[in-house]
Amino acid sequence: MHGFDRIADRYLYIAIGGLPSFGPISIMSGMSAPKTESASTSSTPGRKVLLGVTGGIAAYKCPDLVRRLVERGAQVQVVMTAGATQFVTPTTLQAVSNRPVRTDLWDAAAEAAMGHIELARWADEVVIAPASADFLARLAHGLADDLLSTLCLATIAPVTVAPAMNHVMWANAATQANIRILEERGIRVLGPATGEQACGETGPGRMLEPIEIADAVSANVAVRNLLSGLKVVVTAGPTRERIDPVRFISNRSSGKMGYAVAQAARDAGAKVVLVTGPVGIAPPTGMQVANVETAEQMLDAVRSNLVGANIFIAAAAVSDYKAAQASREKIKKTESALALELARTPDVLATVARANSHPFLVGFAAETEHVERNALEKLESKNLDMIAANKVGDGLAFDKDDNALTVYWPGGGKQELPLSSKTVIARQLVALIAERYKSKK
Ligand code: CTP
Repeated sequence: MHGFDRIADRYLYIAIGGLPSFGPISIMSGMSAPKTESASTSSTPGRKVLLGVTGGIAAYKCPDLVRRLVERGAQVQVVMTAGATQFVTPTTLQAVSNRPVRTDLWDAAAEAAMGHIELARWADEVVIAPASADFLARLAHGLADDLLSTLCLATIAPVTVAPAMNHVMWANAATQANIRILEERGIRVLGPATGEQACGETGPGRMLEPIEIADAVSANVAVRNLLSGLKVVVTAGPTRERIDPVRFISNRSSGKMGYAVAQAARDAGAKVVLVTGPVGIAPPTGMQVANVETAEQMLDAVRSNLVGANIFIAAAAVSDYKAAQASREKIKKTESALALELARTPDVLATVARANSHPFLVGFAAETEHVERNALEKLESKNLDMIAANKVGDGLAFDKDDNALTVYWPGGGKQELPLSSKTVIARQLVALIAERYKSKK
């Protein structure tokens, strides 16, 4: 057996915060060191990932991506489009994946070894990285004019795409419409990231880094079914409290963390209701979304959706104050100074926690200082089952794609979730919530 196969056959148990794996995860409480279980105790094979590589300069990162997936216990079968072979050679990808790379639907010898329908069935997971604008368009419209597009049509495995293209191509209405179609069908879109592009311009269109893609794919596997049969209500984003018809009090929350948590709960099999304040990101698919503006509306929407809920995750940055008297007309600048009297808004999470019967409660604590002390104080004063704390300010967390959390629960439990993309952090958090929820029952 080759070295790669031996790695692929392992079934890893890895603690949250460590390297996400394609096997089940085990969660440590308190400060104990991550436990690993010997690979030889399980014969369950590694997850089979079909990696589709399409034509884009980011294809040069694919050997690294293959290596990262293999490190996480996956068996990787690479399929390249004709365009992809202009950027990276099949020989290189064959060497790192330890499998012959497939490029052609009409390759009689390869088809005889494993036909394309068989290959489509073989895959537990399909990952297209980089996904070019052209390939996304072909995928959205069900074309099957080469091996990779045919496989995508013929597979029942979940499909993830990591788009990479020039930022103007990404912003084009046609590409955006194709992305919406794909998301509506349950295809997961990772990225793209914003930054300097191969063409010398800057903007959204860079493929996520191989490590981020590998983490997101394996973390996705790790959460599958963890919350199946459960109802989860999530709040996200800021609230807006009206001062006058054109002004409001709000905060810098982008909603990205809350949305990622809602998506991770959905991917874990939960029925999710997302109650969201106004944000600039697309509503996630596969869940019920209630749009609200103020803290009071958020509380009403949460209350009416809590019936039958098992878990409530309050990720929203709810405005703590509103104008005591919102003006009906636009306030004119007639005064040299203006004092605005503020009144408290309801605390959504604390209100839910005060009810006689309530679901498992998870709060967030966004702090600029004394993170641990403030988070533990909120855990206790709001009577929560868990709190996820993060440091904010100085360019941290708010409106960023990355985050780091420290999660606390009663009895001294603590788990660090080190800096990672919000998608990965959210999946790790959901796995931890599932673990704590089940141990409380
Ligand atoms: N929260 C809420 N409703 C509010 C305020 C906060 O539901 N009106 C929830 C948040 O969603 C979060 C938790 O309570 O899960 C803590 O929020 P945070 O803003 O960190 O703290 P506050 O309780 O508002 O306290 P402070 O602003 O003094 O830090």
